[in-house]
Amino acid sequence: MIKPIFINKKIDIFNKKSISVTGDKSLSIRFILLSSLSNGKCVAKNILKSDDVISAINIIKKLGIKVKLSKNKCEVIGKGLFGFNFKKNLILDAGNSGTTARLLLSLLVSSNYWIKVTGDKSLKKRDMGRIIKPLKLFGVKFRNDKMKLPISIKGSQILKPINYTENLGSAQCKSAMMIAALKCAGKTSLKCLPSRNHTELMFKNVLKLPVKIKKLRNYEIINLSGLKEYGPFDYKIPGDISSASFFIVLTLLSNKNSLKIKNVNINPSRTGIVSILNMMGAKIKFLNKKIYKGEKVADIFIKSNKNLRSINLNPKFNSFAIDEFLLIFLVASKCKGMSYFSKLAELNKKESKRLDWGIKILKMIGVRVERTKNYGVKIFGDPKLTLKKSFVIKNYLKDHRIFMISVIAALALGGNWKIYNPESFKTSFPSFLNLLKNLGAKV
Ligand code: S3P
Repeated sequence: MIKPIFINKKIDIFNKKSISVTGDKSLSIRFILLSSLSNGKCVAKNILKSDDVISAINIIKKLGIKVKLSKNKCEVIGKGLFGFNFKKNLILDAGNSGTTARLLLSLLVSSNYWIKVTGDKSLKKRDMGRIIKPLKLFGVKFRNDKMKLPISIKGSQILKPINYTENLGSAQCKSAMMIAALKCAGKTSLKCLPSRNHTELMFKNVLKLPVKIKKLRNYEIINLSGLKEYGPFDYKIPGDISSASFFIVLTLLSNKNSLKIKNVNINPSRTGIVSILNMMGAKIKFLNKKIYKGEKVADIFIKSNKNLRSINLNPKFNSFAIDEFLLIFLVASKCKGMSYFSKLAELNKKESKRLDWGIKILKMIGVRVERTKNYGVKIFGDPKLTLKKSFVIKNYLKDHRIFMISVIAALALGGNWKIYNPESFKTSFPSFLNLLKNLGAKV
């Protein structure tokens, strides 16, 4: 294990008034995977160079796709919907990335040979059944009954379109089905609970595919017909709101600071954290709003705030803030009153059991927390919460977000922290520690 980091001092007045975070992870992985199916040279600027994205790049290279990654851009030479070219007995390793593994399975639905897909210790614990079940309906074959990696997959030359209901609110599941539908003749119809919609926006605005989307009260219906080849495309990837969120919460909970985070993707299916924190009294603003290829982009402006209120959160917001809940829990622990969050089962299916970890960390720092039925939690906040004791965080699955939330808790609340697995933040946010140091954090 690489040495832990130590934090013994709260952050004071920031050295800077504005920062930029690295490119969006969901968009970067989608760019890599979808460009591999295009016909020609695709170019992305500001792509996230994190371990998860590198896993996606290494995988498409093994599938016979040329990729050139330089300082400022990433070029991918797509070979069309059916252009992969690889040797027998191929093994593809998605590392820690659930998005890469799940979307990859859908890229392989027409492969002639068995391909083994695997991942790291954390990814091997995650559910692949949510992808395997619908892909089997398309006619794809799998060797493994456990619905976990490693899995062997063999495609079919005569895929059948499907009608399928996605009931988890999982964007990875929805996206995998949409990508599989691209390789299949006829109309696929998907009924999906709301989740982040980057794939839909890319299909429509970037790949110019005739996808039809109808919004119902609780679901959205996505209809699309396959076998439509698409041309090369460019994409300038905006900042990742999931990364920005660590700095939003640090600013909010620190003393007398304000911060602008420039050029961040503010797709409404990703801004749950901002809506929730604003309902708690945060007053976070979006400035210089623009639309880029269907995605909303803006600068985010935040100020420290000592008057935060507790919240009884309607679970309809859950999937729009799914990667940010531990940060929201941290804010709830500094609010006056009891906050209540529920129906968070999906949180325990991430890189590690994040609902359990959230509760564990809050209890450890002395916050009163009650777990409720239905994967819920009650957090009894205290605006005067400051820490003096010593804390150790060791997450054996090396979950990047557990590492980063611990760093933010230390810098915002005080105490003496020893936090293991510092290498993990490179999974999603490689500039995390440098940005903190530039703001004046002693880490
Ligand atoms: C992602 C979707 C989310 C999220 C993950 C990235 C994506 O998972 O947690 O970090 O890029 O599609 P779900 O599949 O649960 O929505």
